[in-house]
Amino acid sequence: MASTKEKLIENVLSEDAVGSRNKVTVVGVGMVGMACSVSILMKELADEMVLVDVIEDKLKGEAMDLQHGSLFLRTPKIVSDKDYSVTANSKVVVVTAGARQQEGESRLNLVQRNVNIFKFIIPNIVKYSPNCILLIVSNPVDILTYVAWKLSGFPRNRVIGSGTNLDSARFRHLMGEKLNIHPSSCHGWVIGEHGDSSVPVWSGVNVAGVTLQNINPQLGSDADEENWKSVHKMVVDSAYEVIKLKGYTSWAIGLSVADLVESIMKNLRKVHPVSTLVQGMHGVKDEVFLSLPCVLGNSGLTDVVHMTLKASEEKQLVKSAETLWGVQKELVL
Ligand SMILES: NC(=O)c1ccc[n+]([C@@H]2O[C@H](COP(=O)([O-])OP(=O)(O)OC[C@H]3O[C@@H](n4cnc5c(N)ncnc54)[C@H](O)[C@@H]3O)[C@@H](O)[C@H]2O)c1
Repeated sequence: MASTKEKLIENVLSEDAVGSRNKVTVVGVGMVGMACSVSILMKELADEMVLVDVIEDKLKGEAMDLQHGSLFLRTPKIVSDKDYSVTANSKVVVVTAGARQQEGESRLNLVQRNVNIFKFIIPNIVKYSPNCILLIVSNPVDILTYVAWKLSGFPRNRVIGSGTNLDSARFRHLMGEKLNIHPSSCHGWVIGEHGDSSVPVWSGVNVAGVTLQNINPQLGSDADEENWKSVHKMVVDSAYEVIKLKGYTSWAIGLSVADLVESIMKNLRKVHPVSTLVQGMHGVKDEVFLSLPCVLGNSGLTDVVHMTLKASEEKQLVKSAETLWGVQKELVL
């Protein structure tokens, strides 16, 4: 007897299983991983979303919870597994797995715990998606992007750290609050290390092409009566503050990662401050990853914009690079 499905539907073509064309994997379904996943889903960037974690119940629960929202989404396939075969042929793999900062703990302090986790994760991703673009979010993000680059053997254009994309978003939000202007019209770049030694490029801060330093030559300096410097201090302190208040940060990093994934999946060639190999740039001698403005598209990170930095800003970058290299050279990979 014909089934209900057979009675309802006349099949005209048996489709060959072509697989997903725009598959995005998120490794780690913690607070950050789920914020990234939801933000990517809401932007309709993938035809398949894959979640991976080591805690099976939590992984299944998060995947089911998202699948139940399918009616309101435009990503027809949402799957999960702790076995990486499920991730095969991903275009972008976002890595958010690992320990997070405890209250008052610096990002650099997390390093060895998360390096050990990466030694398991990265080879598995590479095995099933040898052509993917790796987008690293776990902290300390600059060091872990270097670690992912080394462990994967990928060319540098396909290993990107979310870097100061979030720091710059925080800066533009706070600048917007000060000026009562939407952050998208407040231009300012925070570069260098994601976190404590990030560098605000005050000379480039502008609205509608009007450079704020031309109006207020002391902008960003200690002599500035309006204390714009505090905007950058708030950026540095903000993760610590949010962690103190709610235990972790998630929404802003999720939204900012989805913005990066959008540029890659849609080949937008937008410029973002993300972490890349900066050896040989701005006087950096060591093999480290730091954030500079980079062009993102289908091939990953294709170009780095040469910033016109002041000597003091380059000095800060070199100092961050030396700090990171001091940690990196001790790592056992
Ligand atoms: N780059 C940024 O701007 C930024 C911002 C916020 C947080 N973070 C970082 O993101 C990371 C995740 O933070 P969170 O708040 O989601 O932490 P969380 O503890 O909520 O989640 C981490 C998840 O990773 C999973 N995990 C651990 N080992 C794994 C493995 N081997 N394979 C797969 N999954 C594994 C855990 O089971 C857990 O679900 C932290 O390192 C945090 O510091 C980065």
